[in-house]
Amino acid sequence: MDTKQILQYARSWVLEAGEDIRANINEPLQIDTKSTPDDLVTQMDQQTEKFFADKIRNQFPDHRIFSEEGMGDDISDLEGVVWIVDPIDGTMNFVHQQRNFAISIGVYEDGTGKIGLIYDVMNDVLYSAVKGEGAYKNGNRLPQLSTTEPLKRSIFSLNTTWLLEENTLVEASGIRELVKSLRSTRSYGSAALEFAFLAEGVLDGYVTMSLMPWDIAAGKVLVEEVGGVVTTGDNSPLSMMDRTSVCAARRNIHEETVENYINLKK
Ligand code: IPD
Ligand code: CA
Ligand code: CA
Repeated sequence: MDTKQILQYARSWVLEAGEDIRANINEPLQIDTKSTPDDLVTQMDQQTEKFFADKIRNQFPDHRIFSEEGMGDDISDLEGVVWIVDPIDGTMNFVHQQRNFAISIGVYEDGTGKIGLIYDVMNDVLYSAVKGEGAYKNGNRLPQLSTTEPLKRSIFSLNTTWLLEENTLVEASGIRELVKSLRSTRSYGSAALEFAFLAEGVLDGYVTMSLMPWDIAAGKVLVEEVGGVVTTGDNSPLSMMDRTSVCAARRNIHEETVENYINLKK
């Protein structure tokens, strides 16, 4: 694939979509719920996804689209070029806070992440990465992550669900021990931004038990380009097809985190 050309289009579409969201941020939202009363979707999620689907289909008719809100293709493999799109990641923040959400686009070729774009819309900050060519924040190259700072001087992002005994996915006691071992924790409510902040070095890790490919696709490319490691919670390679647990962290603390603290419930 012509990475340079695809990046140029993807970048300009992301900026255009973001500008449109900002211009309409105070317009009334039509808010619907999906799998649970807290799983939100708005007309802006759908419109933005349609914008990308139309642009991609028009410009790259042989590429496929794997996306959250149903405007994409029916995807059962990642052969060829697949755009993995989350039009608004952090919809709850979008609805409640009108900030702290992102557009996330990963472009994969035969299952390998080639391009990652995460756009922090309200702050007009674009994180971008091309496999093998580094990661950037608004065009400025991000340095490689530290490989020496220990867990006790690390900040991880995770959400409080994983600390609750009744969660069905992970042993909460291990996550509580992780929290005690860290310097501190944060919860931003947008997986894409959490990956971007890890790539930027303002977080040292991100641990969560349930994400979809569109939450991860761009972030994985970004984090790996600065030397971070992204796996499932039990240290396996990530599937970009199904819901999965995720542990993303700086290289020297990743294995310690998955081995000592994350025990997935079977
Ligand atoms: C959600 C956000 C959130 C994460 C959820 C995702 P959405 O994406 O990334 O931080 O904890 O698992 O579903 O629904 O706002 O695109
Ligand atoms: Ca998402
Ligand atoms: Ca979304």
